[in-house]
Amino acid sequence: MQTIRTLEALRAAIADFRSAGSDIALVPTMGALHSGHIALIETARRQGRKVVASIFVNPKQFGPNEDLARYPRREAADARMLTEAGCDLLWLPPVDVMYPAGFATNISVAGVSEGLDGAARPGHFDGVATVVAKLFNQVRPDIALFGEKDFQQLAVIRRMVADLDFGIEIEGVPTQRDDDGLALSSRNVYLDDAQRAAAVSLPRALGEAARAILRGDTPLDVLAAVRDSLTAAGFVVDYVELVDAATLTGDTDPSRPRRLVAAARLGTTRLIDNLDVPATV
Ligand code: PAJ
Repeated sequence: MQTIRTLEALRAAIADFRSAGSDIALVPTMGALHSGHIALIETARRQGRKVVASIFVNPKQFGPNEDLARYPRREAADARMLTEAGCDLLWLPPVDVMYPAGFATNISVAGVSEGLDGAARPGHFDGVATVVAKLFNQVRPDIALFGEKDFQQLAVIRRMVADLDFGIEIEGVPTQRDDDGLALSSRNVYLDDAQRAAAVSLPRALGEAARAILRGDTPLDVLAAVRDSLTAAGFVVDYVELVDAATLTGDTDPSRPRRLVAAARLGTTRLIDNLDVPATV
């Protein structure tokens, strides 16, 4: 695997891939890699493409009281995992390459960015859209892969790519989970043992809720029960909602795919998760 830190070297390496006739897949990450990230790399690998992973802890997507300074950074271990997974190129842009002095552009995707995490984390999705647009222009991949774990992020990126004619295929990859069901996340390392034990309530409550909704229970009651059970497990709930899987609005129609989405905090650690609720009619 090549590791590259300048735009000039990146462009040369991408040109080499292209002249060999390869398709290119991009997997953007913020590092502290786990099996969820690796599933994205392996999915791209199986498609026979050259795989480019990026690691950039993007300051623009962290709020002033969020965990930018303490976000885990593990470059050497990440590089080893990527090499083992068959990644071809690791793009590690320094902050001043990504945001040179005078940087003034912001990409804001209205609508789909606004509720849920967008409401709880003002500016977060502008930061994500802006950095992902830059990564797309730097690497110019044929396809980019994102996890369904960050379901709203995936929807924001699909909207941006369609609106701005990026011409890049966006593939969503199912959420990878620990054995007990907790979604893998770089932020799980913040949890102490008691919090880690409590955290499993999040996927469990969502799983029970999805089954209850499919049985015909009233969604509003089911969502209230999830909030109560998370609170009882020690979470502070940001939101628990049933939304349309495409628009992420709460205007749900059982004949369309829906998504149960939740964000809740254990101490200072914020966890998100989501589950498919298939169309019933
Ligand atoms: P990060 O949190 O590092 O996640 C990188 C990618 O891995 C995202 O597409 C995310 O959805 C996916 N991912 C994380 N946990 C996963 C899991 N348990 N199962 C499957 N996929 C998982 O998301 C970001 O970084 C950033 O916002 C980024 C897109 C890189 C822009 O800065």
